[in-house]
Amino acid sequence: MTEIYFIPKNYKATISEGRVSWESPSNIALVKYWGKKKDQIPENPSLSFTLNNCKTITTLSFSKKETNDAGFNFEVYLDGEVKADFKPKIQTFFERVEAYLPFLRAYTFKIETENTFPHSSGIASSASGMSALALCLMSVEKQLLSAQNLKVDENNALNAAYFNQKASFLARLGSGSACRSIEGDVIVWGATDSIEGSTDLFGIKYPYPVHDDFKQYQDTILLVDKGEKQVSSTIGHNLMHNHPYAKNRFQQAHDNMGQLKTILATGDLDGFIALVESEALTLHAMMMTSMPYFILMKPNTLEIINSIWNFRQKTGLHISFTLDAGANVHVLYPEKERQEILQFIKSELVAYCQNGHYICDQIGFGATQNQ
Ligand code: DP6
Repeated sequence: MTEIYFIPKNYKATISEGRVSWESPSNIALVKYWGKKKDQIPENPSLSFTLNNCKTITTLSFSKKETNDAGFNFEVYLDGEVKADFKPKIQTFFERVEAYLPFLRAYTFKIETENTFPHSSGIASSASGMSALALCLMSVEKQLLSAQNLKVDENNALNAAYFNQKASFLARLGSGSACRSIEGDVIVWGATDSIEGSTDLFGIKYPYPVHDDFKQYQDTILLVDKGEKQVSSTIGHNLMHNHPYAKNRFQQAHDNMGQLKTILATGDLDGFIALVESEALTLHAMMMTSMPYFILMKPNTLEIINSIWNFRQKTGLHISFTLDAGANVHVLYPEKERQEILQFIKSELVAYCQNGHYICDQIGFGATQNQ
């Protein structure tokens, strides 16, 4: 399959107005995406757990333009207020996806969005936000197509898998990790030999058995630093070009995907912990060894990591951590150990969070349509 599969054939902007709404979750990568090529093609495969509670809810209203205005016409609202600073990112997104959604210039859009987590929590809303918007645009496409009564061989859109695949494909063009938020509970993005059907173009559901211990896996997000990131993910990804360790890192991600397959199938919690923590620290090691170099962890990030290691050694419980491109810590653990671990988080780790803030989340099953 190539990008051409997602260029629609035979459709026209026939509907005059409408409204669609989706809620889409965030996701947490276990094998990290870090480094990309042109058109948001990842340098290495990644695998994530879809989250359940950290979500973006987006409503997209559209009405046919009456003028011949050739530009993209849209307004963005966050929590009911106009958000002018969101516009450039969405403008870029529209430019990237226009070839796949030819109706974009024919309508005026109102994008209303809200997050279930605080906006200034340091939790990236790009995965949930871009996936919710991509799904809304897919619903518009679906309405336009169904208004035309196309026959089976006239459009790829009539293929059952098409809606989610294209939603993920579009979300990827908004923000790479967003392509892993359409479905759940375990998603793979990026072509790699050990995962059949994996592709650079969109996220797929992990196609192999997953042990019960990894079902309902818990993710408590410790908000260590709620400020804006000093270095955006996009800049960080680009610093992997000409990075002295890039080649080995990309190979390591492929190897880790293969190993994770066995770990997930057998319920090897210790193997999981070692692989996931190594991935998180490798991600940050790549940041520290790029040029220019940078550090996104804060002193409290390290305090938390050390406390987790001490507690794990003392109790033998299967608590582990992962990090995104920021200072916050995702504490991961199996549901069956929830009580003791949550107790430890509350009594020991929350003290390291900014204003004591943390979010309890767990593995989830992807986006849902509201209307
Ligand atoms: C560290 O998806 O935010 O969270 O494609 O430039 O929008 P862009 O980057 P983004 O990168 C996320 C990187 C990461 C690891 C991951 O989620 O796999």
